[in-house]
This record gives sequence, C-alpha cells and structure tokens, in this order.
Amino acid sequence: MMKRKEFLKRVGHSTLYGGMVLTGLSGCKKDNEQRPAEDCKLTGPDDLGPFFVAGSSNIVNLNTQNLPGTPMMVSGKVFSGEGASNPIENAKIEIWHADSGGRYHPEGSGDVSDYEASQITLRGFVLTPGDGSYSFQSILPGLYGGRARHIHYRISASDHDILVTQSYFLGDARIQEDPLSQNAGDCRIISFQDNGSGTQVGIVNFNIKKS
Ligand SMILES: [Fe+2]
Repeated sequence: MMKRKEFLKRVGHSTLYGGMVLTGLSGCKKDNEQRPAEDCKLTGPDDLGPFFVAGSSNIVNLNTQNLPGTPMMVSGKVFSGEGASNPIENAKIEIWHADSGGRYHPEGSGDVSDYEASQITLRGFVLTPGDGSYSFQSILPGLYGGRARHIHYRISASDHDILVTQSYFLGDARIQEDPLSQNAGDCRIISFQDNGSGTQVGIVNFNIKKS
C-alpha cells in the first residue's frame, strides 16, 4: 500500500491547494473553477442514499479489489465552521461510491458484518491529523439511475454535528438534471483534473457545524 507521504507527493496536494488560494485572492471566480476553501460556508447536507454501510475500514485505497476504472485521488481538509481557518483534528470521513459501472459493493445498507468481506469495496474511512487534512484514492464513480456522478461522505467529529453529504464533478452535464446536485453549490462541485499520469485528482473540503 502506498504510504501517505508518497500519496500526497503524487497527488501534488500542496501545489493544488496553493493554486486554489491564489484563485481566491484574485477576487473573481471563473465558471470552470470551484470556490476556494476560504470562501466556503457550512457544507450543505445531501441524501444518505440506500447504500451506506456502517463499520467500514480505515484505508487510503478504497479500491481494495482492483476494480477497473479511471484512477482517482481525492484530498482536502475538514474545517470547523465557515472558511478555512479552523481545521479539525480527528474528524472521521466515511466514504462510499459506485464502481465504474454504477454499482455499489454491496448494493445494500446495514453493517459490514452483514456481508462477506468479498462483497465490500469502494468504501472506507479516513481520519484527519491536526491540520484537518485527509486523502484517499479510488476509481472514478460511474453513473446510475438519473444521478449525476458523485461521491458520498459521512463526517463525524467531537463537538460537531454529523454531516452526510455528496460531492459532484464540475462539467458533468447531469448536475443540472439531478435534483440532488442542482443546488449543491460550487463548494461541492469539484474540479477534477488529470495529474499527467492518468489519475483524476480533486480537492474536496468540508465545513462542519459546531454543536
Ligand atoms: Fe450514490
């Protein structure tokens, strides 16, 4: 398994993040860019959907079964309240998404103990260190039903409300047709770009509410 340091190096985390800060300083946001973290309000909630399975594993590579697809790397930070000033340590981000054919593993809910290990993949959780950062790798989620392409998250941290939400992919024509993504706002509609090695990389930040 790739070590976290090596993973961040390959994602180019600091470079991408720095680019976003510069975008914010310019004072004008282009339609093809996501909003910089410091301009984001509390992250909006979204549907849990029918495929959340509790008790998933703490892993960096969600694609534990090497399912085919376009490699994807997601990183970002979890902040307390609005903006990018108060990162949260020890936030738990549970992640789940469809495979490239639009199927979940498993296509069900409940707890991991309800399933065989071989049925479970493209789901897991990461924990944030003191700077609130996280990262994981997987494959691009495929399309199913009338949904826009999306990734699911459930974020929990002490003294904060639990946030269930989804992120979307900037440029996806389905965003305007999917009732769930139509009002996601530009802090959850993420610009993914090829890192030059065939991996789609994107930054998803979360702003959760102090309870
Ligand atoms: Fe979904």
